[in-house]
Amino acid sequence: MTTTLTFLGHSAFALEHEGARILIDPFLTGNPLAEAAGLSADDQHADAIVLTHGHDDHIGDTVAIAKRTGATVFCAFEVAEYLHELGVEKTEPGNPGGRIEAAWGWIAFTQAFHSSSSNGRYLGQPMGAVVRLGGKTIYHCGDTALFSDMKLLGEIYRPDIALIPIGDRFTMGPELATRAAEMIAAPLVVPMHYKTFGVLRQDAAGFVPQGVTVREMAAGETLKLD
Ligand code: NI
Ligand code: MN
Repeated sequence: MTTTLTFLGHSAFALEHEGARILIDPFLTGNPLAEAAGLSADDQHADAIVLTHGHDDHIGDTVAIAKRTGATVFCAFEVAEYLHELGVEKTEPGNPGGRIEAAWGWIAFTQAFHSSSSNGRYLGQPMGAVVRLGGKTIYHCGDTALFSDMKLLGEIYRPDIALIPIGDRFTMGPELATRAAEMIAAPLVVPMHYKTFGVLRQDAAGFVPQGVTVREMAAGETLKLD
């Protein structure tokens, strides 16, 4: 059966396959793209939640969704400790380079060059996440600068699709993200982490990787990964 990818705005996505639903960085409340599309955290069901790092625009609605659904949260060790304090019961802590098996597939955390904190509390290493679900491999880069090991990660994991931040200031902008997409060399890339807020780039102009299909997604839109 098909694996689907739904964009929830900013860096938030849902992956689904045969009844398994995985949320990545589920930031909906206060996310203008999600709210304009009528997306609400209350409507999100999940078996698993994957967090790339501890910034508020990535942890987002994780605590409420995890408490309501009982979803297991895959995240950095320090983020897991933080979530436990907030009443989240099921976590699978990890660190860059590690892979965690799950009933629905697996997740491998990669490095990302960024920071990770909440209200001044250190929340461990920022990461990217490679998710394997329904025979498809999805590389969510998290928030990150460009790094040359993206080429190696592309060779190792051979992702079917890469989700790449292009919004500049806090992550790569379009020019560096273009290099990232070419190094990862997934056949399909979706830009993310742009136009959500005024300080980010407002469009994908300049994100023009060669040999790669760029697919901009609107919040609420679903892609079939065939
Ligand atoms: Ni961040
Ligand atoms: Mn961010």
